[in-house]
Amino acid sequence: MPKAYNPNDIYFRKAKERGLRARSAFKLEEIIQRHPTLIRKKSNIVDLGACPGSFLQILAENNPGGKICGVDLQEIKKFPRNFPAQLKLIQGDIFEEDTAQQILKFFDGKKADFITSDMAPRTSGIKSVDQYRSIELNQRVLEICDKQLKYNGNLVSKIFKGEDFEEFWINEFRECFEKTKTFKPKACRDRSFEMFLIGIGWKGERKKTEESGILEEMTEEDYLREMGRL
Ligand SMILES: C[S@@+](CC[C@H](N)C(=O)[O-])C[C@H]1O[C@@H](n2cnc3c(N)ncnc32)[C@H](O)[C@@H]1O
Repeated sequence: MPKAYNPNDIYFRKAKERGLRARSAFKLEEIIQRHPTLIRKKSNIVDLGACPGSFLQILAENNPGGKICGVDLQEIKKFPRNFPAQLKLIQGDIFEEDTAQQILKFFDGKKADFITSDMAPRTSGIKSVDQYRSIELNQRVLEICDKQLKYNGNLVSKIFKGEDFEEFWINEFRECFEKTKTFKPKACRDRSFEMFLIGIGWKGERKKTEESGILEEMTEEDYLREMGRL
């Protein structure tokens, strides 16, 4: 039998003690500890689905002096001035082109070295629907990587595992990186079907498909031209 849900579990208490905004911090912390090459020195990092901000806190601890951009549909509460990395908080939907442009702008048109996504769809209570929406979020994450992740950059992205997972994993995710693996951190609740996909060494822009979306409307070159950098 899986353990019953307990909001006051050990990770919840540890997060409070360390001043972390959510217990999910420990998921990312374990991923980074086990895969220390994911973050290079002074990286440009994008965190998708960043609210309330515990991934941002772990990323900043591991990327002092770097630049981090947190994006969420919800407003992320500001951090104190002594936050260890240069931080931009964007309230926006990752399916909106404007959100993608704001991220690029913060990095002065440069691509990110590392992207994390802890995005979760608003749960419907129907397992197969939630799992499918999680795949859609992950497809969008790959579209964002297309435009915003540096060649050889890395990605960590949460997914709900369900019946559509294998196809996405084999035909889409694994194709994009030199090395890939799945990982379930200890802090993921036993009863949850969430896990993380790790992609190391982004191979570069994917082949375009008819479905691959909104970001195609403006190429990076178009954007740089518009910004007066070309
Ligand atoms: C589990 S929470 C993230 C917790 C966060 N990683 C932390 O450590 O504090 C998932 C977040 O994904 C966000 N999200 C879901 N769909 C999104 C979308 N289309 N665009 C931006 N954020 C989204 C939700 O608003 C929610 O805040």
